[in-house]
Amino acid sequence: MNIVVLAGGISTERDVSFSSGKMVTKALRNKGHNVIMIDVFLGLKNGNENLEDAFERCESLSVNVKEITDKAPDIEAIKALRKGDSKDFFGPGVIMLCKMADVVFLALHGENGENGKVQAALDLFGIKYTGTDYLSSAIAMNKSMAKKFFEMNNVPTPKGTTVYKNEDAYENALKIGFPCVVKPCSGGSSIGVYIINNEKELKEGLEASFKYDDVAIVEEYVKGREFSVGVIGRRVLPVIEMAPIEGFYDYKNKYKAGSTIETCPANLSDEITKQMQDYTLKAFDALGLTAYARMDFLMDANNNMYCLEANTLPGMTPTSLLPQEAQAVGISFDDLCQMLIDISLN
Ligand code: DAL
Ligand code: MG
Repeated sequence: MNIVVLAGGISTERDVSFSSGKMVTKALRNKGHNVIMIDVFLGLKNGNENLEDAFERCESLSVNVKEITDKAPDIEAIKALRKGDSKDFFGPGVIMLCKMADVVFLALHGENGENGKVQAALDLFGIKYTGTDYLSSAIAMNKSMAKKFFEMNNVPTPKGTTVYKNEDAYENALKIGFPCVVKPCSGGSSIGVYIINNEKELKEGLEASFKYDDVAIVEEYVKGREFSVGVIGRRVLPVIEMAPIEGFYDYKNKYKAGSTIETCPANLSDEITKQMQDYTLKAFDALGLTAYARMDFLMDANNNMYCLEANTLPGMTPTSLLPQEAQAVGISFDDLCQMLIDISLN
């Protein structure tokens, strides 16, 4: 097959996306496909680069991807990637390159890549892609919306509220009490997520979170263990536990190898494992997801579990969770990438 791997883009998870893209490109080549990875935002340089040069440059991009650092990228630097007041997300020629492929593997994460807009654009051009459709992507990416769908469908989720930058966010957020968690409504990789213990921290946390998104979620803080569960088709993978050595499972603990102990299958009773897997499928259906996804959970000391979110384009980096869950049932990374294509095309 001819495959375009779309990566990069303008999102705080740009570096994460390049890391996923590099891994996926290599895996799909191992499977015998013709693969190029494109920085969706750059496309063809100046719009008139010839294809040979473009392929060469894309090749060097996929080989020379820089490692993810401990620190989430600076939001101002990400915003500065946009020149002037351009709102373009697809660089020149990206759609043309995608149209040449049999399928586009979406290795994008975060805003735009994961929120259904790219999916809708590809739909309009008749281009096939991996993962769920535009509407379920949009619902899952918006944590406020997803929470409503979880609540309507009896998927347990922490009590929370949605607050808006230009309204009385602080007063509304106070209703949740302390400790609480503040996070951007449509973020990812824990960027802009803060655990809040008092009024001062709440003010600071909201201000910081609003740098990423004009909408924030304020949730009750659930103290407990962190888990994640992947779904491919309707097959639910084993539960993985993430136990950061320090703090919570934030950006550093997600991407710095050795900073989190991941155990898969998680050390849980059969009953609790099954319950979390059932909630995973319930959450998948509640959001109308197809193809694949990964749900994140917290569980308190009384074994109450809470679904935090669905990741519709889960990370495929060297420290990411879905590949580890797949590995636990004997699915290699290369086979996983192939499965994600097969499940998406069927
Ligand atoms: N948002 C990141 C990529 C994940 O959930 O894996
Ligand atoms: Mg996420």
